[in-house]
Amino acid sequence: MFNTAYLDLPPLQSAAGTVQLPGSKSISNRVLLLAALSRGRTVIHDLLDSDDTRVMLTALEQLGCGVERGVAGVPTDVAITGLGGGVPKSPAKLFLGNAGTAMRPLTAALSVLGGDFALSGVPRMHERPIGDLVDALRQLGCQIDYTGNDGFPPLKIGTPGLKLDAPIAVRGDVSSQFLTALLLALPLVAKQDIHIDVIGELISKPYIEITLNLLTKFGINVKRDGWQRFTISQGASYQSPGEIWVEADASSASYFIALGAISTTTNSSIRIEGLSENAIQGDIRFVDAARLMGAQITSGANHLEISKGAWPLKAIDLDCNHIPDAAMTLAVMALYAEGTTTLRNIASWRVKETDRIAAMTTELRKLGATVVEAQDFISVTPPALNAWKAASIHTYDDHRIAMCFSLAAFNPASKAVRIEDPKCVAKTFPDYFETLFSVVKPSSVPVICVDGPTASGKGTLASRVAQQLGFSYLDSGALYRLTALAAKQQGISWDDEAGLAKLAAHLPVVFEGQTVLLNEDDVSELIRSEEMGMGASKVSVFPAVREALTALQHSFARLPGLVADGRDMGTVIFPTAPLKIFLTANAATRAERRYKQLISKGISAKLDSLRADLEARDLRDSSRASAPLKPAEDAVLLDNSGQTIEESVAFVSNQWQSKLGV
Ligand code: DC
Repeated sequence: MFNTAYLDLPPLQSAAGTVQLPGSKSISNRVLLLAALSRGRTVIHDLLDSDDTRVMLTALEQLGCGVERGVAGVPTDVAITGLGGGVPKSPAKLFLGNAGTAMRPLTAALSVLGGDFALSGVPRMHERPIGDLVDALRQLGCQIDYTGNDGFPPLKIGTPGLKLDAPIAVRGDVSSQFLTALLLALPLVAKQDIHIDVIGELISKPYIEITLNLLTKFGINVKRDGWQRFTISQGASYQSPGEIWVEADASSASYFIALGAISTTTNSSIRIEGLSENAIQGDIRFVDAARLMGAQITSGANHLEISKGAWPLKAIDLDCNHIPDAAMTLAVMALYAEGTTTLRNIASWRVKETDRIAAMTTELRKLGATVVEAQDFISVTPPALNAWKAASIHTYDDHRIAMCFSLAAFNPASKAVRIEDPKCVAKTFPDYFETLFSVVKPSSVPVICVDGPTASGKGTLASRVAQQLGFSYLDSGALYRLTALAAKQQGISWDDEAGLAKLAAHLPVVFEGQTVLLNEDDVSELIRSEEMGMGASKVSVFPAVREALTALQHSFARLPGLVADGRDMGTVIFPTAPLKIFLTANAATRAERRYKQLISKGISAKLDSLRADLEARDLRDSSRASAPLKPAEDAVLLDNSGQTIEESVAFVSNQWQSKLGV
């Protein structure tokens, strides 16, 4: 997850590859309970790993179900051996955290099965109402007591005297989870037809559809009369399907479906694993809308494959009431369509994480689009090629704004897009940007070079800037220091160009954050010694050594970008880098900094000899024939002699921001 204030997306060019998206939460916990109530063993693939599923699994284990985690070595595959008509282990005390999707259906299932159960959760769970469900269950003779406040968990459940002949009334206008809980529990006791009547207008119907659909997969066909009456037929009984796949989250999939439509090239595609066109989540209908805009989408049993069809995309005029969340993605796809796209019947956008109609309007306009907003629709006309603007996208603590605007980085004018507060994606998809970066190709990975003489503060400046931007960091000097150290360890002379080059080409080095491992030994401190600094300066004069380390340095350039420090980053290794800083400080300042650094580590040092040493090293580094230390022609000079580190970081950040134009 990117925990930075903003994330800069460079112009992106194409996308191809396979993504696995997180599983749907509502499906995961329903499937766990269904498997637990069934006869036989069910292998559940792609289960969401979250707090809510973890408490459910623990509870099922306590109740006597077989639980195997990580089936066949796959961490997201879990096998459940169900109770299959048997009785759950009792007495049992179940702690259900803050998982409503565990508390409600378990209350219903355990109270019809009977036993001695105590169900509790975190304090917040004890403030979440369950009275309507308990009332419904008491009507059929279930024994449920509130052990805290009336109407709320914690609960104590006993043995029921079931009366199932009269229809069971349940409120549908507070939470659809109460109806779901009854639908999941009552097949356990269907000795006769059981009717459930919904009181009030049923909300969140797509979630009831998910419940009904999953029930079918476990052998239960519920008859439905509109959204008012549901009937479970006499003799219904749960049967394990053997194995079942939890669908990937369909709203999350919309970004990758759009990606395929916008950015795949001939013969390439985006493949989304874990979801098919027959998915049972409402937002899967985004597939139809994306097709209308020109996406080429095929569906397998458990994957979708998307490639470019029409290009530019086709503008649409669509009622989006059935896909309110995924429709935001259409608004960004509209930037790549010919003409004006209108998304209608989206008044609910106004009352989501933020006023999404207002937010989308403001942010799309920043990119140069012409946008008309009204109470319940939005119209988007893309900018002309020369009117596209780089923009810093405000995200309003709304995960979907952050995710859908990342797609604007494919703009044909190659403008950068800054996403503010990128960590807001954690609400549904913490690794969204990492997943995006695994399939997109930029025109080039942005590199910020910081070159300069010894002890000018390059390392501190470069690593701070990298941290601020969420970029990788390359300390190229460390590679020369490592070569010097490895040579010393293996008895290779610092004058032996061929021997050193052979060594440098296969340095067994691993960078783990601040730690540098050579042959699996932590050498982070060892390479910082004055001896290795001098050794590095010596071995780095050889062209063959420099050549041998080039590919390793290039491999550090990954999305979203790289900050590289050294002597020749801007001149030789990354000559096309968009920002090059040449950092200097006068020799007296640098000698003093190094002196303080050594003293603070308890290493004795003399200021005069340090200064003489670093001047000697400067001379060697800048007068050598191969890649000498000198500013690149397009470098920005920064003398930090009188600056604090914060001032230098701010200077580089400002330079970077003006390069991007955001
Ligand atoms: O930046 P540093 O002090 O860790 O670098 C050690 C030596 O490595 C330096 O004296 C010259 C050499 N070096 C180089 O030649 N090219 C680089 N890109 C980085 C360092």
